[in-house]
Amino acid sequence: NKEIIILGIESSCDDTSAAIIKNRTILSNVVAGQKVHEEYGGVVPELASRAHQQNIIPVVDLAIKRAGILKKDISAVAFTRGPGLLGSLLVGTSFAKGFSLASGIPLIEVNHLQGHVLALFINEKDKEYNPPQFPFLCLLVSGGNSQIILVRDYLDMEVIGQTIDDAAGEAFDKCAKVMGLPYPGGPHVDRLAKLGNPDRFEFSKPRIPNLDYSFSGLKTNFLYFLRDNLKEEPDFIEKNQEDLCASLQKTIIDILLAKLKKAAKQTGIKEITVAGGVSANSGLRNALQKSAKKYHWNLQIPKFEYTMDNAAMIAITGYFKFLNKEFVGQNVVPFARTQL
Ligand code: KG4
Repeated sequence: NKEIIILGIESSCDDTSAAIIKNRTILSNVVAGQKVHEEYGGVVPELASRAHQQNIIPVVDLAIKRAGILKKDISAVAFTRGPGLLGSLLVGTSFAKGFSLASGIPLIEVNHLQGHVLALFINEKDKEYNPPQFPFLCLLVSGGNSQIILVRDYLDMEVIGQTIDDAAGEAFDKCAKVMGLPYPGGPHVDRLAKLGNPDRFEFSKPRIPNLDYSFSGLKTNFLYFLRDNLKEEPDFIEKNQEDLCASLQKTIIDILLAKLKKAAKQTGIKEITVAGGVSANSGLRNALQKSAKKYHWNLQIPKFEYTMDNAAMIAITGYFKFLNKEFVGQNVVPFARTQL
């Protein structure tokens, strides 16, 4: 039973992250966020790339140090190839290539979305290990994606439903922005929603066939609703912020759950998981737990720190690809847009 140690690198958006995984067990996971974007109300790609360049070496050094290993013990380096911001991806890709070349170890490319799903297989030292059983369904909800994925095996996944426009995280963030909340708005909506009445306002839900999602209609509906009410009442938002957040969150959750239930019914799969940044949402977690009881699902929700962008999920994916000897050469280039 040889020890496999993977260094994972994630730089797809605005978090620079490095992690060390030994077999399936996490040894370290360092994430450096970027504050520069806050004042712009969204990620500025050029600033993100520059911050990645500044962060990457200290972040990797710290991950190796915290893991208590030596550089020479690393079996392979895995990096996020895409999807994401091209300039950001380039920093992680170039670093990983250089590290692989200098250390004489294999290079492994990882799809960021596959990483979100495989985060469910990260083992923590001295903790119970309860990964999902194949086949399972994964509701992947993040700032850039909303998908239902049928996972047959570690590296065998199929997208069976996905958003045709905005992602669920975008719906949270964009609606939060028009309410004047800071970026990213998702966590703020979550916090305020806890104090509000989710049935106070009703917003539109998409009517689209199959297992696909759509959130742009809701966003427009929310914007017009605020605009109309602000005409009558200039302090409409301040007065109703908590109910607005609660009602908006309920609508997003209802949309997400409706298709997930449909997918579970269609496939007959009761092993259900969730991944991506929006899975941190407390309302979504509660709704999933309720559905799990009602429909006898075996529900797995990853630990909070592995649902957001992080390199631990890239390292664990790298581990499974290492076992399959799925390596890439120095000619590999990042992809801004890739499918699973
Ligand atoms: O997976 P992630 O870290 O990266 C991207 O794919 O961008 O997801 C970030 C997204 C953002 O849209 C953020 O607002 C949302 O996840 N998010 C939340 C919560 N925490 C993060 N949305 C709703 N409620 C939360 N508690």
